Amino acid sequence: MNKKVRKAVFPAAGLGTRFLPATKSIPKEMLALVDKPIIQYGVEEALAAGIEQIIIVTGRGKSAIEDHFDVSFELESTLERRGKKELLAITRNVSNMVELSYVRQKEARGLGHAVLMARDLVGDEPFSVILPDDVIDAPVPCLKQMLDVFNQLQGSVLATQIVEGPAISAYGVLDGKQVAGNARVMEVKGMVEKPKPAEAPSKNAIIGRYILTPKIFELLEKTPLGAGGELQLTDGIKGLLETEKVYGYIFEGTRYDAGDKLGMLKATVDFALKREDLGPQFREYLKSLSL
Ligand code: UTP
Repeated sequence: MNKKVRKAVFPAAGLGTRFLPATKSIPKEMLALVDKPIIQYGVEEALAAGIEQIIIVTGRGKSAIEDHFDVSFELESTLERRGKKELLAITRNVSNMVELSYVRQKEARGLGHAVLMARDLVGDEPFSVILPDDVIDAPVPCLKQMLDVFNQLQGSVLATQIVEGPAISAYGVLDGKQVAGNARVMEVKGMVEKPKPAEAPSKNAIIGRYILTPKIFELLEKTPLGAGGELQLTDGIKGLLETEKVYGYIFEGTRYDAGDKLGMLKATVDFALKREDLGPQFREYLKSLSL
């Protein structure tokens, strides 16, 4: 097995119901966070982590994603004619970013099923999964941090964040023990999906970044449909735990659930405040509000 992680799978075939009606005709992954579609943040993170191939799992109504990462001849020649150099560079950057492959998930049958669709394109090598609606702001790209853990421990790595109080019930939660000498890494023994706060085995909540070994495909293929008639990725990972080491890693940085309205609003404020071109004026505006 090639032990280098070269590929990243982006499941983007979900229905995005939490963002209706916007997502009736616009893929959730294309909603703009300030001025960039949320999926582009994930693609940039993967590239910054050294990923060489991006595989996007799409579905019906998702062609805007393919258009976004493609060359836009008309737009580019118009910008060129008008002398809009900066905008031209931004537009070209997107299409020059990386080699992308696409695979269809015909029906939204869950995250595990979406990942399984990428099996042929991934092949027999470890790979990463990035959920595009989890946008992460971090000093070192989250996926890069995880690759360091993978390279050291040679096992699957699940990114986690510490969640306090009842909010833990919205997540998959890890059970396991801390790895000696690294307070951020846990060897996973089990996982509980959306536990009651009193029943959560830890505060380590799984978020949308994974590094998985190709064994996951075999397991997903055999996994029966779980909650809501969907094939859950976590059910496949539970199978992985029986034969291989799986680690939880508390990443350094801030995660925003941009697939959720409140999460998107928080991300918008934080990202806009950090922008050199927008931040100062936006800060003044926020200060003027009588909250
Ligand atoms: P979510 O559960 O956040 O997305 O899945 P969703 O189902 O589209 O959104 P809501 O809950 O209805 O608002 C996380 C990621 O997995 C993809 C989604 O596109 C999203 O990027 N996904 C989910 C698939 O590709 N296929 C699926 O069957 C389900």
